[in-house]
Amino acid sequence: MRIGIVGLGLMGTALARCLASRGFELVVYNRTLSRAENLCRELGCVVATTPRGVAEACRAVILFVSDDEAVHQVALGRGGVAEAPGRVTVINMSTITPMESLRLYEGLQRRGKAYLEAPVYGSVDAAEGCRLLTMAAGPREVFEDAKGVLEAFSSELMYLGDVPRASVLKLALNNIGLALPAILGESLALLKAWGVEIEILRSVARKLWFGEAVERYWDRALGEAGSVRFRLALAAKDMHYVARALRERGVPAHVSSAIADLYTAAAASGYGDKDYPVAVQHLLRLAGGGSRAGL
Ligand SMILES: NC(=O)c1ccc[n+]([C@@H]2O[C@H](COP(=O)([O-])OP(=O)(O)OC[C@H]3O[C@@H](n4cnc5c(N)ncnc54)[C@H](OP(=O)(O)O)[C@@H]3O)[C@@H](O)[C@H]2O)c1
Repeated sequence: MRIGIVGLGLMGTALARCLASRGFELVVYNRTLSRAENLCRELGCVVATTPRGVAEACRAVILFVSDDEAVHQVALGRGGVAEAPGRVTVINMSTITPMESLRLYEGLQRRGKAYLEAPVYGSVDAAEGCRLLTMAAGPREVFEDAKGVLEAFSSELMYLGDVPRASVLKLALNNIGLALPAILGESLALLKAWGVEIEILRSVARKLWFGEAVERYWDRALGEAGSVRFRLALAAKDMHYVARALRERGVPAHVSSAIADLYTAAAASGYGDKDYPVAVQHLLRLAGGGSRAGL
């Protein structure tokens, strides 16, 4: 079966590797064309020069781009998927606001295209290994039609009903998962600011119920775990989206907006393209002493 992918960042590239390993023929687009060309040299896929070109070649197109604006652009903008003639199913896997997902659903429907939101939990390793937790929402028949592709890259697949239920659940999960490094960072900054060695927290936390969570992020946060899995700039975006989606329904966003501001500040101070738990280092720098070497 042939499938289109628009967006070959960390996740789109990993997903392409998974689907190629499962025998799918791929037609891909990336705004920075060289990324698509390099990947297709490796995987033997076909490069399109616009999202529309991908949709002209495939019945189903996955969108895996950074945010609301990017998704809107590749779906409904100039040269977007919606410009392709005929019926196409658009599967959005990017993390976006529920409001934007509804706009996409309505905009694509007006252009005769089917829409499914399919945000995922799990990062680059899970995507490449076809082990994503996938939350899908949209018309039941569109879900059934796309199920074969979704199952190919998922270890868990759930159907949640109408758009934007999956987008809401994805943001609710990220709100919890992304909060932990922010809280860890503040606790470490507190220790640092008062001259207490941060390693003490790690060793005591091991004896407590949240020790596993601290352990999970420690090396990633302090810059010893290597590769980037989720860019801090995108974590900031997700937390702003949580806050925006709460306020859209008149609910205060005390926690998410504070963490969004922290991640935005850390991204602005040079950590934006790094793995998001390094926001901890931004706080440690403010507490005095700088990187791990100076702790
Ligand atoms: N990384 C994770 O662990 C993870 C897990 C679950 C969900 N997500 C979500 O999945 C999405 C992709 O994440 P990622 O980690 O792959 O991000 P990434 O590595 O930063 O890649 C972003 C992709 O979006 C493209 N893009 C950005 N703005 C665009 C625009 N205006 N028009 C067209 N393309 C545009 C980029 O193209 P260029 O190459 O030209 O810049 C790139 O292909 C995000 O919504 C993220 O929140 C990420």
